[in-house]
Amino acid sequence: MAQKVQFVETVLRDANQSLIATRLPFEKFEPMLETIDKAGYYAAECWGGATFDVCLRYLHEDPWERLRKIRAKMPNTKLQMLLRGQNVLGYSHYPDDFVKLFVKKSVENGIDVIRIFDALNDVNNMKVAMEAATEAGALASGALSYTTSPVHTHAKYVELAKELKRMGAATICIKDMAGIMGPQEAYDLISAIKDAVDLPIDLHTHSTTGLAFMTYLKAVEAGCDIIDTAISPFSGGTSQPATETLAYALRQLGYEVDLNDASLTAIADYFKGIRDEFVADGTLMPKAMATDTQCLTYQIPGGMLSNLLSQLKQMNALDKFDEALAETPRVRADMGYPPLVTPTSQMVGVQAVRNVLDGERYKTVSKEIKAYCRGEYGTTPAPIDPAIQKMILGDEQPLTGRYADTLPPIVEDTRQKLAGIARSDEDVLSYIAFPNLAEKFFEERKAKEENEVTYTITAC
Ligand code: CO
Repeated sequence: MAQKVQFVETVLRDANQSLIATRLPFEKFEPMLETIDKAGYYAAECWGGATFDVCLRYLHEDPWERLRKIRAKMPNTKLQMLLRGQNVLGYSHYPDDFVKLFVKKSVENGIDVIRIFDALNDVNNMKVAMEAATEAGALASGALSYTTSPVHTHAKYVELAKELKRMGAATICIKDMAGIMGPQEAYDLISAIKDAVDLPIDLHTHSTTGLAFMTYLKAVEAGCDIIDTAISPFSGGTSQPATETLAYALRQLGYEVDLNDASLTAIADYFKGIRDEFVADGTLMPKAMATDTQCLTYQIPGGMLSNLLSQLKQMNALDKFDEALAETPRVRADMGYPPLVTPTSQMVGVQAVRNVLDGERYKTVSKEIKAYCRGEYGTTPAPIDPAIQKMILGDEQPLTGRYADTLPPIVEDTRQKLAGIARSDEDVLSYIAFPNLAEKFFEERKAKEENEVTYTITAC
């Protein structure tokens, strides 16, 4: 029997986030939801990551309502979200009661698969979310944040995959956020994990460096079960490789692909028009569609390179770019080789720029790097350089346990604080995640409803 390869469609979340900063409003993709639902995907990634934040901040949408509306139109396909472990959808750690309720409500509102990762691959930051997902009846997809460093060996990744299985993972995801995984690396790593852990494996990568098609091909050869792709008009560049292209190539090679070609054509035709709108208004920039091999040379994600450039530009110090670029891997090594993903990529990048501009290393240190050295982001892959840690912390002692254990519960207090304002636990969760944005959203919602009432009366 032919080996089956399943697909996760990312157009609603990662492709949307990577190419157009998550600016797709619900009504733009609504007409295609039923077609996506019938196309035969393993899952549609449609929530979490930046969608929650952007819905509230820019699109004036209730993210929970968006999820319910997607669910209503897609009864047959698993809906998937991305969750940053103990960070949930934010940039620092939250108390456990919030993590648990957030996961529970996500499932109640329609999520089937929760992909859970931690920027340091510290399982203590994933455990509560993993358990809550399983308890709520969702599939927990335990993700390994992929990076390369002297301490990121295959043996370590295999151990991590085993640990995630013990925590209840239904699938293991290898998350290559920078698109730096090559075909041989994919083949070897997936073979190693397949040998040790009896769970479906999902590979997630990006087209940034141009490796992705080749990487997926070798991953599938090694037995990878699920790949993440984007419908062609929203594929390539910083997004995922194209769904239709991979379906075509894999079928030709004799793999079983249960996607409906007519549905894919309809989805592609529709999203071509949407893409053109975002090109026309400047949201989709040619830079996002380009192939960028610098990331391979420097082992720095593409997004980080452009952040470094814009930081230096702001400070009128573009001539320091090469120095800052060389300093980045040194800071990363000092910090114990964190994978460079939100929020560690920003922290390491900012520190490298400061070290170069100050002309002295760690003369100024951000509060995030201080918190990181205190252990508030979890256990680092390798120890932080002790001399640098001491210099940053002074006499302060780093944490020994799990940071979230030191945080008091937050949900009940917030419920009380928002009495008369919040209409549901979902509102309470939005507020805890993004207090200012949620508050503004609640006010807008109320004003809009009052206007509608006035309008109805006048119309009568
Ligand atoms: Co991604």
